[in-house]
Amino acid sequence: MDYVEQRMAQEAQRQASSVDPVAVFFTPLNALLAFIVLYTVYSIFRPTPPPTFPKDPPATVFRTYTPRTLLPFDGKEGRPVFLAVRGRVFDVSSGRNFYGPGGPYENFAGRDASRGLASHSFDEEMLTKDLDGPLDPLNDLTAEQLDALQGWEERFDGKYLVVGRLISVTDFDKEKKEKA
Ligand code: HEM
Repeated sequence: MDYVEQRMAQEAQRQASSVDPVAVFFTPLNALLAFIVLYTVYSIFRPTPPPTFPKDPPATVFRTYTPRTLLPFDGKEGRPVFLAVRGRVFDVSSGRNFYGPGGPYENFAGRDASRGLASHSFDEEMLTKDLDGPLDPLNDLTAEQLDALQGWEERFDGKYLVVGRLISVTDFDKEKKEKA
């Protein structure tokens, strides 16, 4: 071996022996790889929280209303908005923009809206005046108006929940007596 080769071998040996094994292991690249591996293992084995389900809406009780007991359901002061169509009470609270205070159809809130819907009018005179009298029999409506009313009912059926029925005070008292 000539002198040059001997020096190169010596140099290589010197360099090899001077390398710190700890420094070789803890390079930034290794640290990154270790982080990725640990994070992957953590992601696989981390405890999964129990599944959460959306909360049920509050249970709705089907009730019997009279025109007077329906009246407070007008959407004022955060109350729900109900309206009745041909004896069925719909919870139209999700349509608060239409029927709530200041809405274009607020006259219907808490009222029997049948005649107004059939006649395509939200005027005051469409509403039953005597809250303690009989329900509007609607027997003067034309076939066209009845058709329109049915259209509204179908729309409401697809959109709102029926939460009760509307009967006159007389019928309400009669039912109460029969049950007693
Ligand atoms: C000036 C004429 C009117 C205009 C421009 C008008 C406009 C509208 C509009 C844009 C909607 C919303 C439709 C939707 O997005 O589903 C609506 C819904 C409605 N309109 Fe009218 N409307 C008018 C007259 C009337 C009248 C006279 C009545 C009386 C019966 C009426 C009763 C209703 C009802 C009950 C709804 C359904 C609300 C719901 O889905 O709960 N509208 N109207």
